[in-house]
Amino acid sequence: MKPVTSKEMFKKAYEGKYAIGAFNVNNMEIVQGIVDAAKEVSSPLILQVSAGARKYARPVYLKKLVEAAILDSGLPIVLHLDHGDTFEICKQCVDDGFSSVMIDASHHPFEENIAITKKVVEYAHSKGVVVEAELGRLAGIEDEVNVSAADASFTDPDQAVEFVERTGVDSLAIAIGTSHGAFKFKGEPRLDYARLEKISNLLPNFPLVLHGASSVLPEFVDLCNKYGGNIPGAQGVPEDMLRKAAQFGVCKINIDTDLRLAMTAAIRREFAENPGNFDPRKYLGPGRDAIKEMVKRKITSVLGCNNRI
Ligand code: G3H
Ligand code: 13P
Ligand code: ZN
Repeated sequence: MKPVTSKEMFKKAYEGKYAIGAFNVNNMEIVQGIVDAAKEVSSPLILQVSAGARKYARPVYLKKLVEAAILDSGLPIVLHLDHGDTFEICKQCVDDGFSSVMIDASHHPFEENIAITKKVVEYAHSKGVVVEAELGRLAGIEDEVNVSAADASFTDPDQAVEFVERTGVDSLAIAIGTSHGAFKFKGEPRLDYARLEKISNLLPNFPLVLHGASSVLPEFVDLCNKYGGNIPGAQGVPEDMLRKAAQFGVCKINIDTDLRLAMTAAIRREFAENPGNFDPRKYLGPGRDAIKEMVKRKITSVLGCNNRI
């Protein structure tokens, strides 16, 4: 069984006003934790691989792990490249058997972003692979200091329409106030729903993507801190804000940081409680269980993609 594309998944998600979870994978325990959760609650799934993950685990290992997950679970799973920044890495992943790639040329000027994205779309589509692109820049926490600077980097609705029309891309990641990592907001979390609604209205039946969507749940930050970490000022996107985004054409929600926090907290706890443990299965196992619980929580109480198979 091969990875599926997200075409059918997004169509159903759009109509049902829910979102599919796209979770980052770096090793076997992470893949298994995510897939076991999705299996238990009957959810379609996007497993995504960053350039950093490819470097860490080596491309063939991740591909084979995802193939094993498909075989073992029988779930429809998309194998997606997260944040490919050049045509070459996207081409490599298409040639390697990915069913979906993201070309993130959002750091380039508009015309250049269009040109690079269009080239990836032409190649990927010729091989039956779907493409996500990005327009606008995810605000970093520094941008929050200056609200107008953050707003300036948000996705322009009219440009989004032109971008989609000229590139033929299958989905679009937009910037409305989220950012990557554990430090997303200084002060009140704020997403630009008016902008999201405008983009969604101008692009009917078109799947939008939200990156930087971890909620950085305080109980997991506290757990990490309790067992020897120190992550002051961590703040994520509240879960109800994500549920609201899924009402406006957001069909894919990217989550990585929340899984990192859950896994790390579980492993730290294991070491704190059993300092004599030197069997990797006895600390990676609890890490895998923690990923599973976190993904189940995301699917059932944030994304709404449970019981969709
Ligand atoms: O958007 C980035 C993802 O969280 C992946 O992070 O590049 O450290 O693998 P990474
Ligand atoms: P988080 O850092 O909020 O989990 O975002 C992950 C992401 O967008 C991966 O592309
Ligand atoms: Zn991202």
